[in-house]
Amino acid sequence: MRFDYIFAKAFLVLAIFFTAAFAEGKFMQILTPKQNHLQTELTLNIVLEVDKKRVDTIKIRTPLEDISIDIKSKKKTECKNIELRFGENRVDIRAYKESVLVAQEVRDVYVSSELYHQFRYPPKKYSHTYFHNQEGEKLCAKCHDMSVNEVENVAFKDITKSNCYGCHKSINKEKYAHAPSANWLCTSCHKESKENLSKYLTKEPAYASCFECHEESKETWSSAKYRHEPLDYGRCDKCHNPHSSAYPMFIRKEVNLICLECHKDKHIGQNFACSGANEGDLCTECHTPHASNQPFFLKKRSKRAPR
Ligand code: HEC
Ligand code: HEC
Ligand code: HEC
Ligand code: HEC
Ligand code: HEC
Ligand code: HEC
Ligand code: HEC
Repeated sequence: MRFDYIFAKAFLVLAIFFTAAFAEGKFMQILTPKQNHLQTELTLNIVLEVDKKRVDTIKIRTPLEDISIDIKSKKKTECKNIELRFGENRVDIRAYKESVLVAQEVRDVYVSSELYHQFRYPPKKYSHTYFHNQEGEKLCAKCHDMSVNEVENVAFKDITKSNCYGCHKSINKEKYAHAPSANWLCTSCHKESKENLSKYLTKEPAYASCFECHEESKETWSSAKYRHEPLDYGRCDKCHNPHSSAYPMFIRKEVNLICLECHKDKHIGQNFACSGANEGDLCTECHTPHASNQPFFLKKRSKRAPR
């Protein structure tokens, strides 16, 4: 049959092509991240293995930066810590030899957020992939120490000595960093386990970790008459970044913008529905974000609030 003939011939050509490519090896190979990776933090590692004989320059383009790496003078494995933005990020990686493009690959990475409505539901193609399992760590263990070197509750005098620091240094770079994270006691929340997906999963929901240390808050809040729904569901990380943020108390946005993300109708100035409130007031002047014995989580009793 004619079709069979074409298929056989096409197969032969492909087979020869792949054997040749395989014999020569690849120009470059991306060790991490995986394609269509989904995450919640704004930093990412890119690690490539490059054939030095056939590539002299690597150019990485991300939505936020252009990086150029000169291969000649360096080792074969290239490691880079990059910054991302919320939503879709296309990371475009090109290999050149004497200014001629010899290979190109892309990695699409989505940074989601439970708080920002527009970034809450990533397109279907993305899924959360995990790195700290046997398959992932094996790629780096030749050169990096993949073990935990923390002493429980003892802050590092020199944080660069933490085994986690080199690969995750940007996680605490924001102005306000949370004590256990700032001290690189990462495993106080990411307890090491034998879980196949990742050995550093956190407890679900987040407050199970939080309340291990914030016991006083747990007691006050659990005995309060009214509890705010996101808190009651254990999602402290909706409003707080457990690592660091640009805002005090490591909240993910300015106070009012956090509240208005879920309570759109409460806009200060126009159409502001709370009694006694003026433009420029902080929501937290009157409400606590967590729990209270007053209705509407008011800090003080209000005349208008129902009893
Ligand atoms: C062949 C050895 C080698 C392998 C394999 C290797 N690395 Fe590296 N990596 C290094 C060296 C050496 C440095 C420090 C010098 C430098 O910054 O280039 C480094 C630095 C880094 C950095 C910091 C880069 C920066 O921008 O400051 C990250 C992140 C990193 N490695 C991640 C990884 C990950 C993840 C893997 C496995 C997927 C890996 N590396 C595999 C040798 C290696
Ligand atoms: C050789 C580099 C390297 C070292 C060392 C390293 N990590 Fe990672 N880690 C990664 C990479 C790569 C990812 C995938 C996400 C990314 O690129 O940032 C990751 C992801 C994670 C995650 C998300 C869950 C997962 O498994 O993907 C956690 C939590 C984490 N690391 C914690 C730690 C802690 C705690 C330490 C120190 C004990 C540590 N890491 C040391 C490279 C490293
Ligand atoms: C107070 C608890 C806490 C501490 C301390 C902590 N983390 Fe996390 N971390 C979390 C929680 C909770 C999540 C998952 C929820 C989220 O992303 O909002 C997380 C997520 C992560 C992720 C994955 C985010 C993603 O994009 O999917 C990485 C990587 C990570 N942590 C690394 C670290 C490193 C490195 C340290 C030490 C410097 C550290 N964490 C310290 C609680 C903590
Ligand atoms: C390993 C212990 C530990 C864990 C687990 C922990 N924290 Fe903390 N947290 C601290 C310490 C220590 C401080 C600084 C001292 C203080 O102000 O209470 C702190 C401070 C804070 C503050 C700022 C308080 C202030 O008045 O400045 C917030 C907000 C916070 N943590 C939220 C969280 C959230 C949310 C979680 C869970 C994701 C969490 N913490 C888990 C130890 C912990
Ligand atoms: C709805 C958003 C939101 C949620 C959910 C939330 N917080 Fe907060 N949290 C805030 C804001 C906003 C502040 C700053 C309060 C202020 O400025 O008065 C804060 C302050 C704090 C503080 C320091 C001051 C205080 O009131 O004690 C701690 C500790 C804290 N949060 C822990 C947690 C823990 C633990 C959880 C989960 C059980 C949690 N938060 C859930 C928004 C939230
Ligand atoms: C992640 C979403 C989310 C965030 C962020 C959030 N809330 Fe809420 N809040 C809710 C939900 C859900 C309810 C319960 C349903 C309802 O009554 O609207 C609620 C209820 C309330 C109520 C009681 C409403 C009633 O009728 O009893 C008040 C008051 C309130 N929130 C204030 C705040 C303030 C102040 C902030 C900022 C510190 C905030 N919320 C941030 C989701 C959120
Ligand atoms: C000056 C004090 C004050 C400030 C500031 C304030 N509120 Fe209120 N809020 C109240 C009082 C009092 C109530 C009880 C109902 C009433 O009297 O309007 C209330 C009720 C609410 C309710 C529940 C009732 C309803 O109408 O749905 C929500 C949600 C709420 N506030 C959110 C917010 C948000 C978000 C902010 C910041 C943008 C804010 N409040 C700022 C005093 C205040």
